[in-house]
Amino acid sequence: MSEQEIHPEIVEQRVYDLSRIGQVGETGVTRTVYSPEWVAAQDQLESWMQTAGLETRRDAVGNLWGVAKGTEPGPSIVSGSHVDSQAPGGRFDGALGIIAALTATEALLKQHGQPLRTIEVVSLCEEEGSRFSTAGFWGSRAVLGLISPEDLATTISFDGETIGDVMRGIGLDPTRIPAAKRDDIDTFIELHIEQGPVLELEQLPVGIVTAITGYRHYVVEVSGWANHAGAFPMKYRRDPMAAAAEMISGVIQNAIDMGQPAVTTVGRLAIEPNFPAIIPERVTFMIDARHPDPALREQLYEQHEKLIYEIADRRRLNVDLHINKDLAPRPCDPGIVDLLDQAATDLCIPHIRMTSGAVHDTQRFSQIARTAMIFVQSKDGRSHTPEEYTSTEHATLGIQVLAEALRRLAY
Ligand code: HGY
Ligand code: MN
Ligand code: MN
Repeated sequence: MSEQEIHPEIVEQRVYDLSRIGQVGETGVTRTVYSPEWVAAQDQLESWMQTAGLETRRDAVGNLWGVAKGTEPGPSIVSGSHVDSQAPGGRFDGALGIIAALTATEALLKQHGQPLRTIEVVSLCEEEGSRFSTAGFWGSRAVLGLISPEDLATTISFDGETIGDVMRGIGLDPTRIPAAKRDDIDTFIELHIEQGPVLELEQLPVGIVTAITGYRHYVVEVSGWANHAGAFPMKYRRDPMAAAAEMISGVIQNAIDMGQPAVTTVGRLAIEPNFPAIIPERVTFMIDARHPDPALREQLYEQHEKLIYEIADRRRLNVDLHINKDLAPRPCDPGIVDLLDQAATDLCIPHIRMTSGAVHDTQRFSQIARTAMIFVQSKDGRSHTPEEYTSTEHATLGIQVLAEALRRLAY
């Protein structure tokens, strides 16, 4: 079994070097889309791609592409992930997938020369929505041609900037976005950290993803009566905080009652005017609800919505509930899943097939190409935190599977 030479020390160094851009504390990273850190990270990746012998280009939304042209015409085989991070996030989420694609392709070019089929490495933008909550995978949406002109003014950052203005601010021309659409991608494979505890519990380095969960983000705004915290008797109050507290614990309980893999999280909350001696005027919070099964996910969302309106009614409060992003669960391509599974088996790399509890660019690409993912183990199952960690050994094993799969597809 010919296996590509993937040098662990190069993988480790690249993860380290990239994590210095937007570094937060010892091991954290904040690299939001179109920020100076994001620009610097794309520049660093572009220089690595060029050194590896790839032809690089930036598309209209700032996705960075590194191309290893094939000898034969035809659609591309693409591998990569997102370079933006949570704020703060860890140094592996997204970044490792780009480094994996780059390192695997570099090894293939070194050992086997020019491929028959074109291979492309991609560094996508704004997967996380950590700057623009409703961008909904901005980079992959552009590749799929799913960005409309009005999105430029209605996609607003947590700081109130429009994505159109921010793009123009770094020299991108949003009117060119339609040119980013691709219809010549045959296969998309993303290596990513698992971001959960399954591989560690199974004591395995690698997972082959067969399906990716769907999610919905709600913004819930509960309005009541601001009043004096001391002089206003409890029985006359219309307190949005009391309602929000009941709603938040209720939606979390819904997911617990439905059972794994249903999940629901409330990770963002705002109180107005937000002072201890004032009964709040308004409490706004965001719900992240997920389930990989199309029917059960609708059931979970219905339970959440019913509960929220029932509590608001009972407490005589106004509630505004709106959906600010919604992505359906997607299966991976069985043929590509088999290819990855076979490559890992032939390389004697222990692995399992599994589903993804995180959402990924891969599920966007599955609308235009055959897709699948390679997971590598997350220590303590942690992610979306500076504590996120994946060992160089596990990362390298995952990259070996990726390199072998790309070899079988492109040579
Ligand atoms: O939220 C997610 O699942 C992804 O990490 N952005
Ligand atoms: Mn990610
Ligand atoms: Mn993430």
